[in-house]
Amino acid sequence: MKTVVITGGSQGIGLEFVRQYLERGFHVFAASRNAQRTEGLHQLRKAHADRLSAHALDVRDEQSRRDFHEAISTQMTSLDLLINNAGIISGNEESPLPFGALEQQGLAKVFLVNAIAPLMLTECLFSLLCKGVDPVIVNITSDNGSIARNHQRGKFGYSASKAALNMITKILSLELRDQGIKVVALHPGWVKTPMTQHEAAPLDPQESVRGMIRVIESLDTRDSGSFLDWKGERIPW
Ligand SMILES: NC(=O)c1ccc[n+]([C@@H]2O[C@H](COP(=O)([O-])OP(=O)(O)OC[C@H]3O[C@@H](n4cnc5c(N)ncnc54)[C@H](OP(=O)(O)O)[C@@H]3O)[C@@H](O)[C@H]2O)c1
Repeated sequence: MKTVVITGGSQGIGLEFVRQYLERGFHVFAASRNAQRTEGLHQLRKAHADRLSAHALDVRDEQSRRDFHEAISTQMTSLDLLINNAGIISGNEESPLPFGALEQQGLAKVFLVNAIAPLMLTECLFSLLCKGVDPVIVNITSDNGSIARNHQRGKFGYSASKAALNMITKILSLELRDQGIKVVALHPGWVKTPMTQHEAAPLDPQESVRGMIRVIESLDTRDSGSFLDWKGERIPW
């Protein structure tokens, strides 16, 4: 049975990845700080208790990542797909702070969750990925991380951390090429989720995730190291 780890699986895009990979017959390991007490995952577990494991994971925390690795290793010997989806828009509780009111701690937190943690979790799960069948790592990025396309003020932490994640994706693709592991950065589109809370967002999670899974399934070796959107179109760095 194919295996997938999805971080930030408790809501929004991550929860929809969980749902759609269950439909495709995967054993799904959903992880986030609240994964074990989230209604959406609870409902899915009722129908798929044998193939859905929900784990508490704070991607920022080294011990939490180690505990997660240890816990899933008792349930699987190989990992086929890692989706680094967990992300935050701001290190402060509200929306990103504007220039003139920036806070170092908040910016550092965004970088830790959005860019550093996906790299560290990938390293932590590397040995499982090496044993996977045609293994793929998907880093959920944003078109806000495209330097070429950015014409927006503000969102320093979010946009810069996603640009950093894009570079990490590129380097990882080179680093892991010899092991046959593909690595891509995927932009989900503008999607209605708790993060965006925006009625104007044109996509619902179902459509975005359906598109991203299509892209993931059609990747070939030459796509590794690419920055793509949910329809498979290349985004300029
Ligand atoms: N929605 C959009 O339009 C859009 C556009 C471009 C890119 N994206 C990207 O898509 C991804 C998912 O976004 P979303 O809209 O679904 O966001 P969301 O609704 O806010 O969900 C974010 C998820 O990340 C988890 N998370 C946050 N901090 C975490 C931590 N320290 N450790 C583990 N899990 C953590 C949250 O779970 P817990 O609170 O349980 O930890 C939650 O499940 C993000 O990377 C985001 O940047 C979204």
